[in-house]
Amino acid sequence: MRQAGRSLPEYRSLRSGTTMLQACRTPELVTEITLQPVRRHGVDAAIFFSDIVVPLQAAGVDVEIQAGVGPVIAHPVRSRADLDRLAELDPAELADIAESVSAIRAELDAQHPDTALIGFAGAPFTLASYLIEGGPSRNHERTKAMMLGDPQLFSDLLSRLGAISSAFLRVQLEAGAQAFQLFDSWAGYLSPQDYRASVLPHSSQVFADLADLAVPSFHFGVQTGELLAPMSEAGSDVMGVDFRVDLADASSRVQTGQALQGNLDPAMLFAPWEVLRPRVEQIVRAGLEHPGGYVFNLGHGVLPTTDPEVPGRIVEEVHRVSAEILGG
Ligand code: CP3
Repeated sequence: MRQAGRSLPEYRSLRSGTTMLQACRTPELVTEITLQPVRRHGVDAAIFFSDIVVPLQAAGVDVEIQAGVGPVIAHPVRSRADLDRLAELDPAELADIAESVSAIRAELDAQHPDTALIGFAGAPFTLASYLIEGGPSRNHERTKAMMLGDPQLFSDLLSRLGAISSAFLRVQLEAGAQAFQLFDSWAGYLSPQDYRASVLPHSSQVFADLADLAVPSFHFGVQTGELLAPMSEAGSDVMGVDFRVDLADASSRVQTGQALQGNLDPAMLFAPWEVLRPRVEQIVRAGLEHPGGYVFNLGHGVLPTTDPEVPGRIVEEVHRVSAEILGG
């Protein structure tokens, strides 16, 4: 969850003078930035430093990530002709991504052999929203207009984007990433009915495309309490839970045998440690009640002004509490 984010001074100093997307395409920077939170916080897994729009750029989309705004698309996709210009992703365009992943895996094997590397991609709906709206959107009105007004075009766009995400994930997994997370950050703007009809089949396809690799998979969205049940049908091993949902409620909404991940509110990291510590303990205890398995995480990304000392303290507390409950 953007562990590398802007909260680390060592991240900000490495990034200075480089655009976000340049950094994502420079293997030395990607390797170093991915490892920074492992060294500083002692997390059990590293998340690959990249962005959900990197494979769009590799497929020829004119996109930049503007600080304080997010991804901005020069020519939004709003018609059949626009979609026809969106090429398939040739994995050869991602040679730098494979190089970055291999370099990270080699460094981890040498220095932190028990630390897993998690790859990721954006889910078809979240990528479609950026492409249709042209950038971040408060209400996703153009996206919904296409979804309801031209369902065939919308479905064809999501299929194309699903194939792009699958290709991006496959490159990461074949180069040494050991698990992956599909981020559907904007799915929470949909009703369960529309999610099920227009989005679920395309997200399911991404998990199906990668099933042959037999790696653990995570599926995450924001404000998805009411969508946990349909999202859990897409085929991931783990369902991410944002901070608005109690883990006990989430537990009853997912598939039997499916694990949960989450869900500390990132803003809680600004609370005094005496308040935060018992919250962390409470979440770990609730998570471990879930019979399908549990992964501690924040309920969304680390906020940029977070004190960089706090995540590591949380990691220690999670290890302490889980050892107490599970032994060892
Ligand atoms: O730990 C990590 O750094 C993981 C890598 C990661 C990034 N983006 C790097 C990044 C991951 C997993 C993402 C996913 C991502 N990117 C999502 C899905 C997850 C989520 O947060 O819901 C989304 C929606 C994006 C698109 C995006 N990229 C946004 C909205 C922003 C923020 C723009 C801003 O300045 O407010 C980005 C930029 C971005 N991606 C940063 C990082 C570390 C910050 C760049 C910087 O300013 O240094």
